[in-house]
Formats: sequence, structure tokens, C-alpha cells
Amino acid sequence: HGTAKINQNGHLEIGGKDTVELAEKYGTPLYVYDVELIRKRARAFKNTFTKLGVPAQVAYASKAFSTIAMLELIKEEGLSLDVVSGGELYTAIKADFPVEKIHFHGNNKSDEELKMALDYKIGCIVVDNFHELHTLHHLCSERDQKVNILLRVTPGIEAHTHDYILTGQEDSKFGFDLQNGQAETALIFAIESNYLNVLGLHCHIGSQIFETIGFILAARKILDKMSKWQEELNFTPSVLNLGGGFGIRYTDEDTPLDPSSYVEEMINEVKKETERLSLPMPEIWIEPGRSLVGDAGTTLYSIGSSKDVPNIRKYLAVDGGMTDNIRPALYDAKYEALLANRANEQPKEKVSIAGKCCESGDMLIWDLPLPDAGTNDILAVFCTGAYGYSMANNYNRIPRPPVVFVENEHDQLVVKRESYEDLLRLDLPFKEKTKI
Ligand code: LLP
Repeated sequence: HGTAKINQNGHLEIGGKDTVELAEKYGTPLYVYDVELIRKRARAFKNTFTKLGVPAQVAYASKAFSTIAMLELIKEEGLSLDVVSGGELYTAIKADFPVEKIHFHGNNKSDEELKMALDYKIGCIVVDNFHELHTLHHLCSERDQKVNILLRVTPGIEAHTHDYILTGQEDSKFGFDLQNGQAETALIFAIESNYLNVLGLHCHIGSQIFETIGFILAARKILDKMSKWQEELNFTPSVLNLGGGFGIRYTDEDTPLDPSSYVEEMINEVKKETERLSLPMPEIWIEPGRSLVGDAGTTLYSIGSSKDVPNIRKYLAVDGGMTDNIRPALYDAKYEALLANRANEQPKEKVSIAGKCCESGDMLIWDLPLPDAGTNDILAVFCTGAYGYSMANNYNRIPRPPVVFVENEHDQLVVKRESYEDLLRLDLPFKEKTKI
């Protein structure tokens, strides 16, 4: 996928760069991002809306992968941005991201985070619950400042096709329940507030979803309520944000649609329903994370030790693992990989790829078909662009790997490798016993 191919040396190449040379230059483990592919995905989402003539915002869910360079790229592509914490907001500000295009999510934003959002005058706050609604109203009244909000609702959708990361079902920590009146109560409060300007409604039904039916059902439920509110409250929100969650292909088991197909089907449904209910067509916002960056990322590892368990399995250990990709350990997530330095060799055996952490669960891939791989071969694991670096950690005091962007035969370091010094940056010595 993307610009990945095998070059004359039999090496994996991405963005016109030989990944074996990248591994030599920057060391391993190393995250490599195919910038052209990110641009292609971003444009596909935007063009779909343009083609259908629907006013829209495509907001990149930066939790998938947030760094200054990444947000600069998203800015360049003209997308909006979804942040979910003060840290992600701070990154956006430092990347000089246009504040009016930033949307702030989260089910427990602190007062400091809300104040920060108000200070920067960001585009909108996605209000999740009553505590936040009331706090925000209060903070705004203190400073006599208005703010645009979306109300996050839980439409009561269970996405059933895969073991999704579910968020849209009734029993969820997120959002105002649409069915039991909570959403309506929140809406009435917001309409009556002089400080909260309700742009619209938001829902997010889950992640790594392959079917459109969940999005369609969610849209129907929300539009139904919008029609009721139009009649009873004389209020029609102008924005319908249907969240992110569009699935990608990690292995052959995954069968996603083309990213723009999700959008097309969603829009057709919204058009049909709004006509049926005599509602104005709302602006449609979406928040893809994984589908913008997931398959653009590849992690390069060096293979080190190996272990044979006779008649059972062969383990090959790499110089990273659950510290740079926790998804296999956390979700039993599956990945495909090949040897970057022997990319055109046929598989000879199945091996299991272990990480280097002191934990049996630190396995990246089970039963991966590979040529007879061994020490110093470079393993390229695909589709690590979303929730890899962003969920990386320092378990076992392992430094986080650097990130390199490649495009048009250029490579550019965008996140440095963490050093041992960096690991100790916040540590303070224990100088003397605590005096009583
Ligand atoms: N919008 C909201 C409100 C979300 O909660 C999420 C993801 C997204 C958008 C973006 O979803 P995406 O398009 O990336 O699926 N750590 C997990 C994924 C957690 C997703 C949480 N919310 C993983 O590694 O699979």
C-alpha cells in the first residue's frame, strides 16, 4: 500500500527511501511514515464531501498520532483537528494550528483544560456531560466569553461486527444519553445559557469499524431527535458530527471499505432522512484518526536473539515491543510484517515475534511466515501509524523510538529518539530521610 515497494536490492522502500538505509541512519526501532499516503487519505475524505456538495469539516483525531510535524502536515492539508487533552491542545498550539479549527473532546476535562481552550478561543468544545456543561457555563460567565459547543450524545448503538472499541452503546462513560432525555435536558440548558452557542450534536460509535450500518443507525437516531427538537424547542442544530472509527486493513482478516465510501453512505442517509423529516441538511463533520495515519506508519526493528522450543515454536526477539506498540498485548491486535532487507525472499517457516520487555505477554506477532530470519535482519511491521507512537511508553525504562517522515525520496526526522537522559529528566534524587 501507499508508496511501499521492493527495490532492486530486494529491500523494502517507502517514499522512495530504502528502509534498510533508514534503519542504518536512524537506528532501530524506528517509526517510518509515508507522508504521501497521509496526504492521499486526507484528500480522499475532503474530496468526497466536495464531490457531494456537502459543507463539512474533516477533523483529524490527533490521539492516533500527535506530534508537531504531524499536526503541521494536517494543517497543510487543510483539515480540522480533534484534541482530547491539554497536552494535545498544547501540541496543536505549538504546531501553530489554526485555533478556530480545533475541537476539544474528553469525558473529564479539568477546569484548567477548559480555561486553556477558552484562552486560546478554539473552534468548539465537545461537551460530554452535565458537570462539564455547568462548569463551562460558569467559567464563560466569569469571563463574559461565549463559546461554541457540540453536545456529545450516546445514540445507543452497539457495533457488532468485530470486537470494536465500543463507545456509542447506552452503557458508556461518554456522552449524554439520547434515549432517556439527558441529551434534551442538556440541550435546553445550553440553549438558555447566554454563553454557550450550540453548533450541533456529536456521536462516536467506536473504532476499527468495517460496516456503515452503525453510522447510519446512529445518524437516524439523532436526526429523529433533531426533528422532535425542531418542533418542540424550535431549535435546529447546524452541525452533525458522526465521529471517527473507520476501519483499516491490518491483515487479511480485516475487510474495510474504501474510507470515502463510509462518508458517501453516511451522507446519502443523512440527505434522505433530513428530506423525510423536513429538516435542513446539517453540516457534516467527521473525526477520522486511524484511517488517516494507520497504514502510513511502518515500524522497523532489528532482530536480535532467538529461541527454539522444539516441535512447538521458534521465537525471534526484536529490539522493541509493547513499549512502542502496545496494541497486540492490549487488544490482541494482529499485524503483518516482512524482512525489510530480504523483502523478495519466500517464507520458509513460521516464527513468533517477541518484544524485549520482561513480560510474557510482550509478543508482537504470532506465527508469522518469514524466510529463515535471524540476528541483524530488519523486520518491518506494517500499519503501525495509529495508536503506536501515541500509546508508546517507557516500561522497563526503554526509550521511545524516533519518528521519520519520508516523501519523494526525502527523509526527515520529526521526533528524536529518547535518550537515557530524557528518561531521567523528571527524576529527583532522594537526598536525605524525610524529617519528622
Ligand atoms: N472521535 C472520538 C470521539 C474518538 O473517541 C475517537 C477514538 C476518534 C474520533 C478516532 O477514532 P478512529 O478513527 O481512530 O478509530 N487505542 C485504540 C483506539 C481507541 C480509539 C478511541 N477513540 C486502538 O489502538 O485501537
